Amino acid sequence: MTLERQKVALIGDGAVGSSYAYAMMHQGLAEEFVIVDVIKKRTEGDALDLEDAQVFTSPKHIYSGDYSDCADADLAIITAGAPQKPGETRLDLVNKNLKIMQSIIKPLVGSGFKGVLVVAANPVDILTYAAQKFSGFPKNRVFGSGTSLDSARLRVALGKKLDLNPQSVDAYILGEHGDSEFAAYSAARIGGQPFLDVAKKAGLSSDDLATIEDQTRHKAYEIINRKGATFYGVATCLMRISRAVLRDENTILPVGAPLDGEYGLTDIYIGTPAVINANGIAKVIEVPLNDDEKAKMTASAETLQKTTANGMA
Ligand code: 2OP
Repeated sequence: MTLERQKVALIGDGAVGSSYAYAMMHQGLAEEFVIVDVIKKRTEGDALDLEDAQVFTSPKHIYSGDYSDCADADLAIITAGAPQKPGETRLDLVNKNLKIMQSIIKPLVGSGFKGVLVVAANPVDILTYAAQKFSGFPKNRVFGSGTSLDSARLRVALGKKLDLNPQSVDAYILGEHGDSEFAAYSAARIGGQPFLDVAKKAGLSSDDLATIEDQTRHKAYEIINRKGATFYGVATCLMRISRAVLRDENTILPVGAPLDGEYGLTDIYIGTPAVINANGIAKVIEVPLNDDEKAKMTASAETLQKTTANGMA
């Protein structure tokens, strides 16, 4: 009998990366987990700290490594990059983090890595686009965390308003993971009912919905202003994405996906639901939008494409 062992490579051991590693410890996923970072001492410390958790979770070979250890990984997650400081937007990070991305992709490709690559560093849509271009990997094998966290934030906010478990709220934030994102309210559903009908019955006005959308869009700033960074939310989204890949689930999740005509857009990575399995993106799902939402998607894509063109020029 040959036992299948799965391997995950984490590149970037900052607050997001180490929270992701901790979340993965609790999932019984990936028997092998290698952590790569320019600060080697930190990855060694994290590996030693995290290996103690396996006594109470599941056995895992977790260690500090380098790019050559990524060769046989099924999945690599890139969280490395400068994080937002208070007052900075995600797009402000583009030049710094494009350089870091370039320095990561070269040795990663050089290692012979053939797995699925998920990017979480910001500005995530642009860095995912760059990672695909720099690597030359097929588009389906590279995707970003996109609006996974923003969609989770929206579901949490709507769940609070409607007194529902957020898992029972089927709603998406689409577009850039950033200031031009928007809530696709017209397509949202609650227990099979159109969300807008449920919201009306619950007394939520369109102003209330706009406020919730705005608070969702700005939630990262609220967290960064208070504790300097966000990490548990995004780390848990990355764990959920990883499970969909490693278990070949064919689960629909909001991510940063490559578009090929969906929403009238091409040559871009942007937040939209997609079917995720062991090959990465199996299919992009185009959410039906009303005219107002279509215009917001187009505007969000323009913002990303402009910043990408400037950053990669
Ligand atoms: C977040 O939305 C900062 O992109 C990070 O939490």
